Amino acid sequence: MSPTESDLRAPDWFRTVVFYELPVRSFYDSNGDGIGDLAGVTEKLDYLRDLGVGAIWLLPFYVSPWKDDGYDISDHYRVDPRFGTMDDLAALVEGAHARGIRVLGDLVTNHISDQHPWFQEARKDRSSPYRSWFLWSDTGKEFSRARLMFPDYEHSNWTWDDAAGQYYFHRFFAWQPDLNYDTPAVHAEMLNFARFWLARGLDGFRCDAVPYLYKREGTKCQSLPEVHQFFQTLRAMMDAEFPGTALVAEANQSVPETVAYFDQGKEFQMVLHFPAMPNFFLSIGDQNPKRVLDVLRATLPGVPGDCGWAYFLRNHDELSLEQVSDEERALFFREFDSTPGARIHNGIRRRLAPLLKGDDSSIVLLTALILGLPGSPYLYYGDEIGMGDRLDLTDRDGVRTPMQWSSGPNGGFSTAPPEELTRPIVTDAPFAPAARNVADEDRQPGSLLWRVRTLLRIRASHAAVFGSERFEGIELGDSPVLGFWRPSAEYRLLGLYNFAPEPATVTVPLPPTVWASPVELLRTGSSSTVVGHDYMARLDRRGFSWTLFLTRRARPVP
Ligand code: BGC
Repeated sequence: MSPTESDLRAPDWFRTVVFYELPVRSFYDSNGDGIGDLAGVTEKLDYLRDLGVGAIWLLPFYVSPWKDDGYDISDHYRVDPRFGTMDDLAALVEGAHARGIRVLGDLVTNHISDQHPWFQEARKDRSSPYRSWFLWSDTGKEFSRARLMFPDYEHSNWTWDDAAGQYYFHRFFAWQPDLNYDTPAVHAEMLNFARFWLARGLDGFRCDAVPYLYKREGTKCQSLPEVHQFFQTLRAMMDAEFPGTALVAEANQSVPETVAYFDQGKEFQMVLHFPAMPNFFLSIGDQNPKRVLDVLRATLPGVPGDCGWAYFLRNHDELSLEQVSDEERALFFREFDSTPGARIHNGIRRRLAPLLKGDDSSIVLLTALILGLPGSPYLYYGDEIGMGDRLDLTDRDGVRTPMQWSSGPNGGFSTAPPEELTRPIVTDAPFAPAARNVADEDRQPGSLLWRVRTLLRIRASHAAVFGSERFEGIELGDSPVLGFWRPSAEYRLLGLYNFAPEPATVTVPLPPTVWASPVELLRTGSSSTVVGHDYMARLDRRGFSWTLFLTRRARPVP
């Protein structure tokens, strides 16, 4: 039976589903022109449903010159024709909803493409109503405390424009002029941008580059109170006009600045957890998972009850190392990235599998970790099959290569000649289609895809405990094992994760509130016994276990 609109838009729906980020351009090419398209995503919806995905986040699909892969929009109200038509989008949304999958778009509000007619009008004519939609300067010296986002590509946030006879401000690339949020018409337009796509059935947005909308002299021009007001207005509009839709923030900032985007439940339902993400990897690097507990203890209490963190391992950008100390950054480079050319902007442009040296156990360990924490896990397309990357492509394109559906030509992505593909296929042997692809992994029990799918199934069938907001870290001294409890009304889930490259044993004292007769939901290479009121587990290298205990209150009458 297909889910109804009210199932899909039930309050807090996002707490129990797994999200899947995908670039339409690289997912599946339905018409053989070498470019992935919306109809291609629709064709693969059964794959996503079978994987256990409850929501997809589509990277920008609006008209764009693709100088920043769609984050440079030149028409906010049309599907890029290379991706298909409005009808294709409608069919995708309908097909997704019929399978219980929600669809998020990407709301890019900070900047537009310099090719956009708004900017073209503004630069040519000082009296144009669009002139005030952008920030201009005669000196290019204002807002000097605003951080440069891509310091390896741009040396200033101001670029001179001959036609305008002035400098214009851009937080990102020079071909992405920032909008001026002190102009009320910009607000109205961006709210309409959101409305337009929500009216076409989208279930919400990942909001791009959230902190930077407002600029004020003497500040770092990020996370200013006006930014929060804007997103509260957006959320209020969505709650009123499109109830049950959701927003997730991309705000790559320090802990207090990031937590502020929940704003007592008035702003974003989810915030991508940039401060936690590097710590997941670092725990493998130095086998000290305490760092994960520390960041969770610092960030979970600030989350309002009806909101949650959005955990991710990788995404379409570089793996950002902005939120770690210099020593941690050095550790990261030492452990995960010795490849020349892998560093970019403030991080590393590699996918999950190459970072973890193709070790499926490590991939499963970290995936199980983000699935086990209170909040919403976000998977990046292709990581479930261990796809690799291409460092020979420019900027971050190397982590956006075509999805590997089979070991056939073009990895089954497209029937076009290889030289016509929107991006070339991965060729690095351990990660290329011959070794990593959906069709083969689907047929092999024990493959990475099979293991990831099992994790999602278990999580979905215990939604009450995984969807609970409660979390209690367990002190395990210097152990390389991370342990936590996820209490819910009837159960307590025990999560144990061994970050070491060798087996480890732990003893966890059971709280008096549970019956000492556990049910193992899943364990990889682990064994356990209960002695008195102690739970003793032996975990294989990079092994983990999810174990369910019934609470005493909930014990059935014998
Ligand atoms: C997106 C990037 C993009 C940038 C500028 C980011 O936060 O994730 O891919 O280059 O915004 O739009």
